[in-house]
Amino acid sequence: MKIILIFLSIVSVVFTCQDTGCPDGQSCNPYTDQCVVDPPPPARPAAWLGDEPDFCNRSPDDCKHFNLEYDISHPKGDGDFCENGTKIRCLIGENKPELENSPDNELRVIAYNVFERSFQITWDGQRERTCRLPFELLDKNRDVDVITFQEVFMGGCFAESLNIRQILTYYGFPYFTDLLESDDVPSNGGIFIASKWPIVEQDMHIYNASDENTWDWFAAKGVSYAKIKKGDTFYHVTGTHMQAGGSSDIKPKQCQETADFLKTKSIPQSEPIVYSGDFNLNQWSSNTEALKQCVQFLDAEIPPNEGPLNATSDPNTNDVLNLTTSNPRPGSWLDYVMPNIAHKRPTSAVQIVLKPIGTPAFPVCWCEQCISLDPDYIYPDDEDCDRVERIQDLSDHYPVLGVFKYD
Ligand SMILES: *[C@@H]1O[C@H](CO)[C@@H](O)[C@H](O)[C@H]1NC(C)=O
Ligand SMILES: *[C@@H]1O[C@H](CO)[C@@H](O)[C@H](O)[C@H]1NC(C)=O
Ligand SMILES: *[C@@H]1O[C@H](CO)[C@@H](O)[C@H](O)[C@H]1NC(C)=O
Ligand SMILES: *[C@@H]1O[C@H](CO)[C@@H](O)[C@H](O)[C@H]1NC(C)=O
Repeated sequence: MKIILIFLSIVSVVFTCQDTGCPDGQSCNPYTDQCVVDPPPPARPAAWLGDEPDFCNRSPDDCKHFNLEYDISHPKGDGDFCENGTKIRCLIGENKPELENSPDNELRVIAYNVFERSFQITWDGQRERTCRLPFELLDKNRDVDVITFQEVFMGGCFAESLNIRQILTYYGFPYFTDLLESDDVPSNGGIFIASKWPIVEQDMHIYNASDENTWDWFAAKGVSYAKIKKGDTFYHVTGTHMQAGGSSDIKPKQCQETADFLKTKSIPQSEPIVYSGDFNLNQWSSNTEALKQCVQFLDAEIPPNEGPLNATSDPNTNDVLNLTTSNPRPGSWLDYVMPNIAHKRPTSAVQIVLKPIGTPAFPVCWCEQCISLDPDYIYPDDEDCDRVERIQDLSDHYPVLGVFKYD
């Protein structure tokens, strides 16, 4: 007996799990030298909180920051082991939006600039907002067919592990175009199209016209194109984010480029085309010349507003925009979903401005366009966070829904 005990203690001294490895389904914790059973796969899409080795100090309650549900704690989680403490796994809530289908001869498209700029530029609740956004959008608009996103520069929610695309896929919105990117500029364009129906063809065009004196010069701004098959009908949808600020002749040029780009697709006259996105042209401005030119180049028509809200960017009603705006101003209408009227024309077309919000209000660490010390996410309760704001709006823009009915 004594001999066996001595033998065992020698084994544990000489052969640590770092040397011998662990059985299948277990991993060696280098800090304790013990095999630990790996976490089971999550029941639903999930994200881990806490970075190894030294930021494993989150608590189950932290899942609530992102409107997620606490699942399990584990010292290794999805990466390397924590030196102390554990990581926390958070799951998407069990409650899914109950999606509905409208008839095939009807198309419902939402354009949404979600204001998800890099943590290297700013902290304004990007993660808290974009984690909430897919549910809020789909639950209140269960029959939407297509969502065109702008300003998804990081990927949304937990870009690496639980991004907007993964959440939408889980909710029944599984088709996407590629993100606009170019080797010539440092930032991606933040633009892609999500669809409930198969995307049978996709393409993108990065705008040539861009103002070199603006931030846009460094991003792959352009237009994303998807040919979507809803039932037996093909719809051609574009999503764009046009020049912000800068010289006024840029935007009509970008619309001209879009029109030229679509010509290369040889789309039959009998198939509908819908343009959408953030055009950065205010239809309530005193000078709408550039907007008129743009609409003309695209053979489009701006549909009437059929909702109670009359602006897509309004610091008087939007708490995120209110925090980023210093001088009061009336709301402006910058985002559009509009049909091409030279191709198959809708028999009815309307736009409705939506206002998805998180309920209740949620805290975020706020440091708008500061040079951040940490080019990563920061929790509102972190000691490095100097300012906390409670917000409800999910972006500084409101999404616009376009509803089009065809013969
Ligand atoms: C882990 O805990 C030990 C002992 O309390 C401490 O010496 C060490 O600094 C801790 N490591 C980290 C990364 O917090
Ligand atoms: C973009 O610019 C390049 C180089 O100036 C030119 O060759 C190309 O035709 C332009 N494309 C469009 C769509 O304007
Ligand atoms: C929306 O706002 C514009 C500009 O202020 C105004 O001309 C228009 O009448 C408004 N429409 C509605 C329905 O309130
Ligand atoms: C922000 O909201 C407050 C109160 O709701 C309002 O008085 C103020 O004018 C708003 N700021 C801007 C820039 O619109």
